[in-house]
Amino acid sequence: MQNFLFGRDMITTQEWTRKEIDTIMDVAMDLKRKRALGEPHAYLRDKVLAMLFFFSSTRTRASFEAGMAQLGGHAQFIESKTTQIAHGDTAKEIGEILGRYNDGIAIRQVDWDIGNQYICQVAEASRVPVFNMQCDLYHPHQILADLLTIIEKKGDTRGKTITVSWAYASSYSKPQSVPNSLILLMSRYGMNVRLVHPPEFKLKSEFIDQAKENAKKHHGSFEMMDDFEAGVKDTDIWYAKSWGPMLTTTDPDEDKRITDQYKDWIADERRLAMASDDAVYMHPLPADRNIEVTDGVIDGSQSVVFDQAENRLHAQKAVMALTMSNMEV
Ligand code: CP
Repeated sequence: MQNFLFGRDMITTQEWTRKEIDTIMDVAMDLKRKRALGEPHAYLRDKVLAMLFFFSSTRTRASFEAGMAQLGGHAQFIESKTTQIAHGDTAKEIGEILGRYNDGIAIRQVDWDIGNQYICQVAEASRVPVFNMQCDLYHPHQILADLLTIIEKKGDTRGKTITVSWAYASSYSKPQSVPNSLILLMSRYGMNVRLVHPPEFKLKSEFIDQAKENAKKHHGSFEMMDDFEAGVKDTDIWYAKSWGPMLTTTDPDEDKRITDQYKDWIADERRLAMASDDAVYMHPLPADRNIEVTDGVIDGSQSVVFDQAENRLHAQKAVMALTMSNMEV
């Protein structure tokens, strides 16, 4: 396979063609197989990835770091709060400088109206690929892992129904990056996408418009609903998670007042039974257990959350191998 993706950023999957995303899926499956068989696959020997975090992480940090080691390279963990960013290092300086030390720069910056702009500014100044480890708008590596999981569990994605549903959580106001990225990518894979949320939790209209356009082009459908139970009826994939009401309010007290009106939006066994018999339940984690989703659902036989979390590793290794090395893979 000719590697034509060397040097590319992964900030949103929208910037990648369907064919290119199919290549990521193909390479991810190959790398997953190689790891299972214990076959060496050190495509990034001597390469270094900088991982800059402005926000906490379990899966993203661990999977990028493990992935770089398995590819023969190294990942350096950098937290914004222990750097000079707080004292004035600009996005341009971070892009220029970390780009000179490293072969890739990965960033998590989820602050509303700041995160994506910051990552794009770093990418503008960087000579090496920049990877979005989650911003306020997109979580591309999560969604690539989700697509890989759906293909593994359901085969041909065309005609399958995926319900991207809001659910109640009390831990913190979670970014809109996962639902945005889900409706943008799954609508390119011929799926029937249902977006379900209470009125105050709407997503940016530009993403809705793009998802509609994607669905039309790829012979799927896109539907918006505000009835939690109608949304889950007969679905093949129930992806139920919380996000914040950022387009309605960014005031924390008002956010809590609005969110607390919907405490009954919990993914539970009764509602899962409304989905198709072989439906899968998905969540990117961390979840608010017994608030956002019951133990019975998340630990039940229809839950694929651990396979999703594992696929972060394989999908990210594929992106890094394809973009950080100009050798043929
Ligand atoms: N799903 C996900 O991004 O997990 P972390 O926040 O733990 O990285």
